[in-house]
Amino acid sequence: MNSKDQKVLVSTFEKEVYEGLTAFPKYLSSKYFYDEVGDKLFQQIMALPEYYLTRTEYEIFATHSTEIVRSFDKQKQGFDLIELGAGDGKKTKILLKDLLQQGLDFGYMPIDISQNAVDGLVNTLQNEMPDVFVQGQVGEYFEVLDRLKQLSTRKKVVMVLGSNIGNLLHSRAIQFLKKLCNAMNQDDLIFMGFDQKKHPQKVLDAYNDKTGVTAAFNKNVLTRINKELDGNFNLDKFMHWETYDPESGTAKSYLVSTEKQTVDINQLSLEVHFEAWESIHTEISQKYDDDIVKWLAKESGLKIINAFSDANQDYKNYLLAKA
Ligand code: AVI
Repeated sequence: MNSKDQKVLVSTFEKEVYEGLTAFPKYLSSKYFYDEVGDKLFQQIMALPEYYLTRTEYEIFATHSTEIVRSFDKQKQGFDLIELGAGDGKKTKILLKDLLQQGLDFGYMPIDISQNAVDGLVNTLQNEMPDVFVQGQVGEYFEVLDRLKQLSTRKKVVMVLGSNIGNLLHSRAIQFLKKLCNAMNQDDLIFMGFDQKKHPQKVLDAYNDKTGVTAAFNKNVLTRINKELDGNFNLDKFMHWETYDPESGTAKSYLVSTEKQTVDINQLSLEVHFEAWESIHTEISQKYDDDIVKWLAKESGLKIINAFSDANQDYKNYLLAKA
């Protein structure tokens, strides 16, 4: 590895790409998969036959929505449903419908990093469900958590779906949950999706689909470096590789250099050398069981008060409260 000359790195993207590609072993954050192209690839992933996560969470909502919704506001005091990383809100609409049917007093606040996603969701909801009071917010999870207390004075149910927490190492997941817990009042709730441990092959297939959409999604971080930081990664010289450790429940994605090569990233004044078969670690997708979730909750000052599962027990949504 070789830094051609000193350069002031301005954006977080620049800094993190520099750090990750000059580290040993090399790594890049999966948050950089997501730009306009990456968002579309992720939409395609969610529709893949191998990617069971979205379908199973949908099944849980379709089967248990009445009970789920009832558990949000047992005292019928009114509440705000705050969804972090709302995306297209397809699953959430099932819950919103039930909330309306049960005559509960609620507002819905979808929060996403993408202005496009928030605008799109607010527009569709205003057309499809005009009776729902919607107030969209744009921001990053951690930054929004800081604002959470000011967002509403009513009871809050904070929703994080899609096993998004699985993209965080346990230490960071605890940091996130602790922060969430600190921003909550005593009777606020968290409703969160956790993908469960299962047949290892099923996990591997979900992250290594036959059509190669997941590979393209993984490689999108290199495309972004090429486009945004004037890099010259040859995508054909890297392969997508997935591993799953059934003991820890951790699925990991890598990009593996298929030959010895050097890549230039001009905006970072950086030359990156790869040995043949050297890897860049790009993503973790953690799988859980009740004990792991119980442990995460305890470490964060929370407790599990209910859990909803699909028929196969492939996926669970947990309702968490302050301990
Ligand atoms: C967004 N996140 C929970 C997905 C996951 O399952 O880890 C991202 C993803 N990566 C590859 N396929 C889907």
